[in-house]
Amino acid sequence: MGLRESFERGLAKQLGHPTGRRGALTGMLLNHRNAQLIANAIDALELTPGSVAMDIGFGGGTGLGALLERVGPSGAVHGVDVSEAMLARARRRYAREIDAGRLALHQTSMSQLPVDDASVDGAITVNTIYFVDDLQRAFAEVAGVLVQGGRFVIGMADPDAMASMPVTRHGFTVRPTDDVIAALRAAHIDLVEHRRSGTGQRAQHLLVATPAA
Ligand SMILES: C[S@@+](CC[C@H](N)C(=O)[O-])C[C@H]1O[C@@H](n2cnc3c(N)ncnc32)[C@H](O)[C@@H]1O
Repeated sequence: MGLRESFERGLAKQLGHPTGRRGALTGMLLNHRNAQLIANAIDALELTPGSVAMDIGFGGGTGLGALLERVGPSGAVHGVDVSEAMLARARRRYAREIDAGRLALHQTSMSQLPVDDASVDGAITVNTIYFVDDLQRAFAEVAGVLVQGGRFVIGMADPDAMASMPVTRHGFTVRPTDDVIAALRAAHIDLVEHRRSGTGQRAQHLLVATPAA
């Protein structure tokens, strides 16, 4: 394996499951690169103060801070990620909010959410679905924890743009947006709106959805 391929493999592994010291660097990189898409995903949730929100695959943790701000002191946020490195980072960064009971962190996957059914008003997952094998199962799990009328917003890069990135050859599942929408439907979640974030044909996608009535 050449140096370049080895670098790409290493980066892909870190993006899908950050670990160790490189994981900490990955968290910083993610926060820097994805802040706008995360902010747009949170806007699309249309949360009100006092709401309960969730960020699934929170990575560097930018979304957690923005959600805490949005739900205010009477609201609560759940952070879900498979990576212990990302949880450790969030525990340090948001120690006060955790102590105050406003933020709960869970080391688990989108397919196994450890919160009560119908207890979450809005959930985002940004740049995470590429690492989920069974989307329908994961989306059904999200549907179960959302209140009726709650929102689920998926942020994802443009599939054509992703397919041209060498790093995505290593362990990413790049799906057309239509396949993601079909998985939502199969999980009994309706698409409310398909927005773009950024400009041009390769702008990122935001799928705004709600559990079917
Ligand atoms: C590319 S990062 C994106 C982080 C952040 N949402 C952002 O956009 O900057 C993907 C994150 O999802 C987490 N992840 C991967 N598979 C997951 C799963 N099945 N359930 C929850 N989190 C997952 C990874 O540990 C990583 O922190």
